[in-house]
Formats: sequence, structure tokens, C-alpha cells
Amino acid sequence: MSNHYLGKVDYSDPLYEILYSRVCPDIKDPLFHVKRMSLHSVYKYTEEKSKIAVIGKFFKINDTKQEQILRIKGEYDNLEKIRGYGFDASPNYVVRPITRDERIGLALIEEFIYGRDLDYYLKRAIYEGKSTLLMERLSRLASFLYVLHEKTEMAYNVELDFVSAYFQKVINKLYIQGILSDCDRKEYLKLKDKWLNRTLLQNAKSVIVHGDATPTNFIFTQRGDVVAIDLERMKNTDISFDVSMVCGELKHAFLWRTGNPYTAEPFIRHFLKSYSRHSYNRKKAFKEITLRNPFYMALTELRIARNDYLDWNYRKRLAYEAKECLRWGLKLK
Ligand SMILES: Nc1ncnc2c1ncn2[C@@H]1O[C@H](COP(=O)(O)OP(=O)(O)O)[C@@H](O)[C@H]1O
Ligand SMILES: [Mg+2]
Repeated sequence: MSNHYLGKVDYSDPLYEILYSRVCPDIKDPLFHVKRMSLHSVYKYTEEKSKIAVIGKFFKINDTKQEQILRIKGEYDNLEKIRGYGFDASPNYVVRPITRDERIGLALIEEFIYGRDLDYYLKRAIYEGKSTLLMERLSRLASFLYVLHEKTEMAYNVELDFVSAYFQKVINKLYIQGILSDCDRKEYLKLKDKWLNRTLLQNAKSVIVHGDATPTNFIFTQRGDVVAIDLERMKNTDISFDVSMVCGELKHAFLWRTGNPYTAEPFIRHFLKSYSRHSYNRKKAFKEITLRNPFYMALTELRIARNDYLDWNYRKRLAYEAKECLRWGLKLK
């Protein structure tokens, strides 16, 4: 990901006053160095003397994509809401929001978290054989997600219309991109309907999910905390939305780098076991989550296949893996 130095925040920039008053009011004449952290408008600001660092996330004030703007603007409230469930302290918490200012398109200033993300541990496992280390981090991530889901479980079932619409949106994008033919598109949508007709998916309880459980959105700190960032896509839905997203990301991380579709399997199994282990009836929980996993894992693989920084043939392969996963999963009992 792009991560480069852009210079200093100018005194005349309205952001300067915000950083000064909200981040380090006690420092005399602070200087803020800026680094770009993402292709989206995410920047790191480090105060020169104190070394205090924060992240700023922005939206374009005149952007016509209202849905996207609302999502970005909503992150501040999402962080506050989840922190209100007790995710504001060690060992599991979400990053602390500091301020926002919509007049200048500033959706959020939040504290900077020092540590390593899951992506770092994935690479160490793949290139250096550090499997045990990755397993340990996955156990901690499973525990984070379990507590999040358990604390926010609602009395009603998931809204599958949203899941259906999202699946369709991803498939349409892949069709427009040329990854899927029209015939493929129909086949995937048929498989989706079969899945959504199952009581297995319909009877799942709604919980609050992180909504973007990718390897760069969880940071492991030196003192052993798991910190979630990037809560733009937080929503109410099936626990599997998060759990299977981690599984799909694991599958992709290994398949992409090793070409072998099986190398991720022990890690996926370990993650699902670690998650279910927290349930009162762990066997039943493992079974239920394993049965729902192929649908949501396939959705993640399809979601990743949209990324044009990935090789064309690999994207097709990922879409194919998703189809196999959907088909195979329908046979499980
Ligand atoms: N609070 C934070 N602490 C440390 N790093 C962060 C923080 N927020 C964002 N980052 C870094 O910036 C990257 C992009 O930020 P993120 O909020 O995930 O936006 P997006 O994924 O939508 O571009 C993250 O993957 C991470 O490397
Ligand atoms: Mg992110």
C-alpha cells in the first residue's frame, strides 16, 4: 500500500488548528508531518517534537457518491458505539476516535496504533514458516470477534435481503469487469438463491459485525492487545460475515502467494475452532459455523476477485474457487 511522505501541515490549513487544539494543545508551535497511508484519503500526522501520531480520514465534500460519503462519515459514530460495548480497553478494543470536522471533509481523527497487522503474520507464516505465530494471532482475533458478536447479539434474525443485494452487487461488478461471463453470472446467482433459501442462513441471529475483516484492519500490539481499525462498513448481520471473511482472506493470502489451494486449510480450521471454543456448546457452534462458512467465504473470494491490482488469471481462479466452494458447501450436512 502507498505509504509516503507528503510534507508538513501548513499553519494556514484549517486542519492545523484542529490538530493543535485536539491532539497536542500543550506543545508550543507544533509541527505536523504528513504521510499518505492508503489510496483512499487516509493520512498519518506525526507531531515533530512529541512524536504524537494520529490518523486522519477524509471524504470529498462535493462527491456525488452519497452512499460512500455516508459510510465514511459514519465511522466516527461506529467507533464510539462499539467502544460503548466495552471495546475501549485492553486486551480487545477499537481505535479511539479523537475528533471530526465535516466542514473540511474530515470524517475522523483517531489515535495511531503501534503494532503489526495480521498481514504481517500471514507473510511471516508463508515466507518464513512461522505457522505457530500465525495460529496464535488467529486465536486472539477469533476471541476478539467472538466477544464483539456475543455482546451485540440481537433478538431477531439476519436480514438476508441485504446479503442477497450485496452478493448481486459483487457479481455484477465481476461481470462488468469481464471476470465472469453472462452465463457464469446466472450460475452464481442461482447458487446464491439456493443458499439463501436454506434455514441454515435464515435462522442466524443478527449481531454487529466489523464488516471489513481484512488482514490490514486488525493490529496486534506489543503488549498483546488486538485493536480493530477501519469500521466504516460495520453493520448488523450474521457472525459469519466476519468469521468467513477472515477464512476467505486466509485462503486468498496463501493461494495468491503459493498457488496451492490447500495450504490455508489448517489455519482456517484453527480459526473456526478458536472462534467456536468460546461458545457454551462448542461442538454445535463449530458445526453451525462450518456449515454456513462456504457461502460467506465464497462471497469474500468474489469480493477479492474484483481487485484489479491482482493478476487477471488469478482473479478468474479465485472466482472459480468461490463457485466450487458454493457448490461443495450445499452438499454438507
Ligand atoms: N489508527 C491507526 N493506527 C495505525 N495504522 C492505521 C490506523 N488507521 C489506519 N492505519 C493504516 O492505514 C491503512 C488504511 O487505513 P484504513 O482505515 O484501513 O482505510 P482503508 O482500508 O479504507 O484505506 C491501514 O491499513 C493501516 O495500515
Ligand atoms: Mg483498511
